[in-house]
Amino acid sequence: MEDQNKRSSRSLQRQVLLLFFSLFCKTASENIRYSIPEELEKGSIVGYLAKDLKLNTGQKPNSNLQILSLDEKQYFIISTENGNLYVNDRIDREEICGESTSCPINFEVMAENPMNIFHITVEIQDVNDNSPHFSHGDIKLQISESTLPGTTFILEQAEDPDIGINALQDYNLNTNQYFVLDVRERESGKKYTKLVLNKQLDHESESSFHLILTAVDGGKPPKTGTTKIWITVIDANDNPPIFTQELYMVTLKENTPSGSLVVQVKATDRDAGSYSQINYAFTNIPERALQKFVLDGQNGKITIKEALDFEETEKYLVAVEARDGGGLVAHSNIEIKLLDENDNAPEIILVSLSSPISEDATAGTLVALINIKDRDSGDNGKISCYLKDSLPFKIVPTSSNLYKLLTDGLLDRENMPEYNITIIATDKGISPLSTEKTISLRISDINDNSPTFEKSSYTAFVPENNPSGTSIFHVHASDPDLERNAKITYSLLRSNIQELPLSSYLSINSETGIIYAQRSFDYEQCREFQVEVRAQDGGSPPLSSTATVKVFILDQNDKSPQILYPSQGAEGSALFEMVPRSAEEGYLVTKVVAVDADSGHNAWLSYHLVQATEPGLFSIGVHNGEIRTSRTFLERDALKQKLVI
Ligand SMILES: *[C@@H]1O[C@H](CO)[C@@H](O)[C@H](O)[C@H]1NC(C)=O
Repeated sequence: MEDQNKRSSRSLQRQVLLLFFSLFCKTASENIRYSIPEELEKGSIVGYLAKDLKLNTGQKPNSNLQILSLDEKQYFIISTENGNLYVNDRIDREEICGESTSCPINFEVMAENPMNIFHITVEIQDVNDNSPHFSHGDIKLQISESTLPGTTFILEQAEDPDIGINALQDYNLNTNQYFVLDVRERESGKKYTKLVLNKQLDHESESSFHLILTAVDGGKPPKTGTTKIWITVIDANDNPPIFTQELYMVTLKENTPSGSLVVQVKATDRDAGSYSQINYAFTNIPERALQKFVLDGQNGKITIKEALDFEETEKYLVAVEARDGGGLVAHSNIEIKLLDENDNAPEIILVSLSSPISEDATAGTLVALINIKDRDSGDNGKISCYLKDSLPFKIVPTSSNLYKLLTDGLLDRENMPEYNITIIATDKGISPLSTEKTISLRISDINDNSPTFEKSSYTAFVPENNPSGTSIFHVHASDPDLERNAKITYSLLRSNIQELPLSSYLSINSETGIIYAQRSFDYEQCREFQVEVRAQDGGSPPLSSTATVKVFILDQNDKSPQILYPSQGAEGSALFEMVPRSAEEGYLVTKVVAVDADSGHNAWLSYHLVQATEPGLFSIGVHNGEIRTSRTFLERDALKQKLVI
């Protein structure tokens, strides 16, 4: 613009000057035209001006040509010797004419003798003396890595003040993988270029780099100008977080305490800033896992929230997501396997029980079915079981967890009516756990015992003259069986008295075993007899046993002594005994003989003198009944003496 102003003002001045001269000399209208390249050295010849103006015709030039110039710059000078036009100063076409395609320098030359004015035009030709130039230095671009290929960026154009072919013709870019150039031409004919993204940028692999942009003109040789294009790749959140593992596998002991670390998941994000800040969360987590585990969203640590139980769940599959600040998400899975601990004791469950069982059950009879199980796995869940006490039973496994309790010997209810069978189940864990269960088993009775009398033979003593119906004895038998099998009925079987029916003299209470006399016994008639007693139980079939009761009749003093001699007269008085008067003292008068039907003491007799005519004359032997005189007779003694014995 400045150049243009300069030029237009200059041409205005020139027009004024020309107008002035044309007033003087109307003939001065010769036009001389030269063409020189710019930048010729000072003193280079432009043209043979005097000659061309035909001013010097063989003579010494005297026309004294003079350049009339209002310009400060004197580009040309006319030699006073030969009238040639020379370059006087540096002629920079670009400075003088800028972008104009033609660059004439016009000036007037005045000849003095004759005075004339000539119009001279020196056309300045462009030479490629300017390189293309990027006036703003390096180009700086900030491009988001998310920019799509094909996007263009207009670049500052290079300046080359030369014109035509010497002006800027093309741009080149150093070979690179991301950008190419799209060179265009403006209406003005100026070349400019766009940078075209050819391939997606990636902040993470190359966050900044530079390109070299070269502008080339069409000179021969061409001149170039370069600049650097600094490209900063701005991070876009183009990287999702990436878990360090796609699957985290964890094994945990089931009794690991709450609060313990399970695993720390980790995801990284290659983006920068908040785009790389990761938050962790469970996704798709089953409810029961959510109760057990807690995830720290900041650091990815998964800890145990609630005690784990292998028996409840052996394995958890949990999905976690990592979400970066830009909302990109990655997923990973965590498999948490629990290791069984021996934390469950075996369980003993009575499935069925036959109780009572009969005491005559043969060995091997099934008593109970028992289910024994252990919720642990492996050895922790393997079971051995046995009976605590030594009893006539055994436990044998059947299928899987089922065990049979069998009799293993003979039973006897009378000896052991009830068993408490304690089963112990122990697992095979390192520190084994065991469980006990006691089964109460009753043994039922069968009639395998006969009633037994306390003695096989009893002796009963019965005083004679007993009233009929007197209880004379009590037998007792016992039976260790139960109930009917032990209910005893007594009966009398037979007696050694053949003559009479047994029932006529004895009876027995079938329940109590009390034996009654059915009549009064007379010792003197029958002194003893024996009877067989039977005790029979109520079993089916009944069992019985017998015992013998010997009955002895005891004598009673029921008989008076009877005097056999002297025999009693009809009126009850005895005959006379004759005693001589001269009988000495101690003379045996007679012997009273008495008998007693009773026995023993009851039959022991003693003789006593209860009445005598003359007391003291006779005495009687207490034991032998001999009546003897106690003194000699006297005169006064009566002839008849009466003695009552
Ligand atoms: C069995 O156990 C019960 C209850 O503890 C007890 O009363 C009973 O006496 C026991 N029986 C045996 C034969 O040990």
